[in-house]
Amino acid sequence: MFVKPLTSFDRTLETAADKSITHRAIMFNSFARGSATVTNALLGGDCRSTIACMTALGAKIEVNGSMVKVTGTPIFRNAALDAGNSGTTTRLLTGLLAGMNVTASIDGDDSLKTRPMRRVTEPLAMMGANVSTTDGKAPLYIKPSKLRGIDYRLPVASAQVKSALLLAGLHADGETRLTEPILSRNHTELMLKAMGADIELNGRETVIRQSELRPVDVDVPGDISSAAFLLGAATVVNGGRVTVKRVGLNPTRTGIIEVLKSMGADIEITKADGIEPCGDVTLVQTPLKPFDITEEIVPSLIDEIPLLAAVACYAEGTSTISGAAELKVKESDRIQTTVDALKALGADIEGTDDGMIIHGKGGLKGGGRVDAHGDHRIAMSAAVAALGSKEGAEIDGAETAAISYPGFWEIIC
Ligand code: S3P
Repeated sequence: MFVKPLTSFDRTLETAADKSITHRAIMFNSFARGSATVTNALLGGDCRSTIACMTALGAKIEVNGSMVKVTGTPIFRNAALDAGNSGTTTRLLTGLLAGMNVTASIDGDDSLKTRPMRRVTEPLAMMGANVSTTDGKAPLYIKPSKLRGIDYRLPVASAQVKSALLLAGLHADGETRLTEPILSRNHTELMLKAMGADIELNGRETVIRQSELRPVDVDVPGDISSAAFLLGAATVVNGGRVTVKRVGLNPTRTGIIEVLKSMGADIEITKADGIEPCGDVTLVQTPLKPFDITEEIVPSLIDEIPLLAAVACYAEGTSTISGAAELKVKESDRIQTTVDALKALGADIEGTDDGMIIHGKGGLKGGGRVDAHGDHRIAMSAAVAALGSKEGAEIDGAETAAISYPGFWEIIC
């Protein structure tokens, strides 16, 4: 796919629906007693993997446009599951299935098979789960067992690990108490609460006790991680302006807004509330200052770092990212793939052990060829970098954007 430089970007639009919330709305309603409707669901590759897995386990799922009707079953069938490219599906399901009296396996594509799974299976084993990995990776094998609650400090701030353990905690004797080093996205906690779970949220600490869920209708807001590319496009194209409607603004996800504001971006937000806060976000282009991203804020913008590195090339001065070693175990090694992609466009950027250093020169020459390495966020970050450049860029593997943002290329090309 060739991305041409844009001479203007002035849009008011909705963005792709939230991937994290869509996964959870479909997965959690699949074992609640009764039916629920998920509206404005994201039907990208990853959430389709969740739908396929929950259907294989016995839930009834009907898709009609972006509306998904889920009829849950408290008893799952044994199944061999394919989670495709989706780490969220794999990790959350491992925790859920561990206490559901089923025999199941979970496998996926080549990228998924490289992702670390012991971070989930080790604490699950402490709960009494019978779950094994293949050298710490997928395929995973789950057998029936009786779970007990644990008091566990997560070594990394990970919503996927936390969610897996909370789902196991729903089926465990006693209470499960989890403490994170830094609060990661809390969509699981908010949705389980709305479904009647016995759960207490207290900053970095969450406590859950055995509970049955009642179904809940969910109207999914836009994904701030997808809106990020539209905000990014407005920062790099001369005279750029964008309003993204009804974006999820859960404070555990809005690190990107804070960083863009710290760069001097002109951002206005009008807020509305539901199970999750959301609102309209407008960004008007201004000259940008560099940023320093450190550990405390990383969980709230973990998926936006490749895009922010691209935006940093359009600032004047040196931006730094540290405390983000988790990037190495995402859909690709995102320190390496971000550095390679932006270098191909002429950026002065280097990778470090836990982040990047970007010497911004107020723009990019472009003209290179980028390999997305099968990673949706790398393909889209490189595209944004190319939009403001002098010569544009060829992006190999552009189709991977459909994992989280079907329709992305129609918006920017
Ligand atoms: C996600 C959590 C994050 C994020 C991923 C989606 C989720 O992963 O990077 O894209 O929906 O829980 P980690 O929990 O592994 O940091």
